[in-house]
Amino acid sequence: MFALLFAACSQPKDTQLAESKTQTAQKPAPPRAMSPEDTAKYMELGDDLVSTSKQVISTALVDAMEKGGVKYAATFCNAAAYPLLDSLSKAHHATIRRVSDKPRNPKDAMDDEEQKVFALFKAKAQQPDAEAMPIVTQTNDSTISFYKPIKISMPTCLKCHGEVGKDVKTDDYAVLKALYPNDNAVGYKQGDLRGMFSVRFIATRAQTH
Ligand code: HEC
Repeated sequence: MFALLFAACSQPKDTQLAESKTQTAQKPAPPRAMSPEDTAKYMELGDDLVSTSKQVISTALVDAMEKGGVKYAATFCNAAAYPLLDSLSKAHHATIRRVSDKPRNPKDAMDDEEQKVFALFKAKAQQPDAEAMPIVTQTNDSTISFYKPIKISMPTCLKCHGEVGKDVKTDDYAVLKALYPNDNAVGYKQGDLRGMFSVRFIATRAQTH
């Protein structure tokens, strides 16, 4: 199973590697296939880190909503989402991001590899009763990535990501729009694929833990 998942996205990665290496005069390192052990290891590390991140973010969000409603929580999210993920990233020697094809924060737009992986998750989301599994792939010789879908998992999400004027109150949306003039992250329904976690690790391949 893990080997299959890796195979599914090894193609685009190799192309990307080749492209990025032409920029430097250094000797290009040939892409190496990940062992099933490495894949399993990063699958577990990624899953743990995403669970922790989800918990930290949703606890902060629920607290903020209880404290001051949607407008306050929107402003709070704007200030806190990145610092929360950044401190988790530092603590775990990884880069943890939430990315989307319809981002609210322009910093959450996807790079080429993320777009390719997200297309796989999107295709899966269109099949009834199919649950997309996380994906681990070797992004380049020094980076291993873990990707996991993010769905609109509860009605609360719709207060800021649903239909404007219906789920998202018009005056709440005015606050969001002031913070994010190019906001794309509305119009979702319960269960929709909203984006994905993108976790990047510095590869420690030869190591055994
Ligand atoms: C109080 C309003 C609010 C609620 C409720 C809310 N979000 Fe968000 N969401 C935001 C804001 C604001 C951002 C941008 C954060 C930033 O600037 O880093 C955001 C960003 C995101 C992102 C990152 C990608 C992007 O668009 O920038 C994802 C993924 C996301 N939200 C998913 C969810 C999910 C899933 C839920 C329900 C569990 C949820 N949100 C509930 C306001 C909200």
